[in-house]
Amino acid sequence: MQTITLYNGIKMPLLGFGTFQIEPKDTQQCVEEALEIGYRHIDTASAYNNEKEVGLAIKASGIKREELFITTKLWVSDMSEEGAKRAFEKSLENLGLDYLDAYLLHMPYGDVYGAWRSLARFYNEGKIKALGVSNFMPDRITDFCLHNVIKPSINQIELHPFYQNYYAQGINENLGVKVTSWASFAEGQNGINEILKSIGEKYDKTPAQVVLRWLTQRGIPVIPKTIRKERMRENLNIFDCSLDSDDMAKIATLEQNTSYFFMPNNAQHTEWIIKGKKIINGRVLD
Ligand SMILES: NC(=O)c1ccc[n+]([C@@H]2O[C@H](COP(=O)([O-])OP(=O)(O)OC[C@H]3O[C@@H](n4cnc5c(N)ncnc54)[C@H](OP(=O)(O)O)[C@@H]3O)[C@@H](O)[C@H]2O)c1
Repeated sequence: MQTITLYNGIKMPLLGFGTFQIEPKDTQQCVEEALEIGYRHIDTASAYNNEKEVGLAIKASGIKREELFITTKLWVSDMSEEGAKRAFEKSLENLGLDYLDAYLLHMPYGDVYGAWRSLARFYNEGKIKALGVSNFMPDRITDFCLHNVIKPSINQIELHPFYQNYYAQGINENLGVKVTSWASFAEGQNGINEILKSIGEKYDKTPAQVVLRWLTQRGIPVIPKTIRKERMRENLNIFDCSLDSDDMAKIATLEQNTSYFFMPNNAQHTEWIIKGKKIINGRVLD
C-alpha cells in the first residue's frame, strides 16, 4: 500500500476504509472483511457510534497493531480541555487500543484550543501518533496553525470531483497539513457520471476507481465507505493505472465549486451540526 508521510514522519496509507453510516450491527463484519481484503487504514469517529464494533473487528483480525493505521475523531459536545481528555480515553477503550494513529477534531466548533491542549499531552506521551482536524476551512486552518506549537498534520475535508478544493489543498500544504478526502464519491448523490465512465473505459476501471485514482494522484488520502465486499475490492484496486493530463483536464470540468453537504462556515449549518443534525445539500435530513 502506498503511503504519505506526515510532517512528523508518521506514514499514513493513501487508501483507507471509511465507516460513516455503517450501522453498528454491520460494522464488525464490514471492517473484518475490509481488513481481510487488505485495508490497513480504518477511519471512524465517536459520532459514528461504531467504535466498539471497529475495535472488535481489529481484535478478531489478529493483524499486528503496528501494521494498522486507526483514525477516530472528537465530537463537538466534547470540545473542551476536560471533555477531550474524557472522550479520548473513551475512544481508546471503545476501540480496545492503547494508542491511536490519528485523532482529529471532528469540527471547528467549541473550545478547540482547550481540546487541543489536552490532546497535545497525549501526543507528547505517544498515545496519539498524529494530531489532526477536520472541516477546517482555509481561514480556520491558517489561524489554528499559527496559534499552536503542535500543528495539525491532517485536515479531513469534503473533496470530490464536484467540489475539487484545489485552493484548500494548496493552503493546507503550505502549512504542512495533509488534506484527506471525505465523501470522495459525494456519497453517490450525483449518480454515475458519463465523463468519469468514459475515462474509466480507457483503463478498464469503474467511475468510482477513476475518482479514487484522481484523488490519490493528487497525493490526497481517500477513505471510501462501502458495506459490500465486491466494492471493497474494487475501491482498493486502483494503483495499477495512472490518469493522464487529458483525463485530469476532463475531470476539472466537473467542478461545481460548492459543497454537497454543509459549509463549515455557514451560520445555519454550524447551528445544525452543533445540534447533531445530518445535512445534505445544505438541508437537514429528517
Ligand atoms: N470528517 C468528516 O466530517 C466526515 C464526513 C463524512 C465522511 N467522513 C469519512 O469519510 C468516509 C467516506 O465518506 P462517505 O462515507 O460520507 O461517502 P463516500 O465514500 O463518498 O460514499 C459512500 C457511498 O458510495 C457507495 N459506494 C462505495 N463504493 C462504491 C463503488 N465502488 N461504486 C459505487 N458506489 C460505491 C456506498 O454504497 P454501499 O455502502 O452501498 O456500497 C455509499 O453509498 C466516511 O465513511 C467517513 O469515514 C468524514
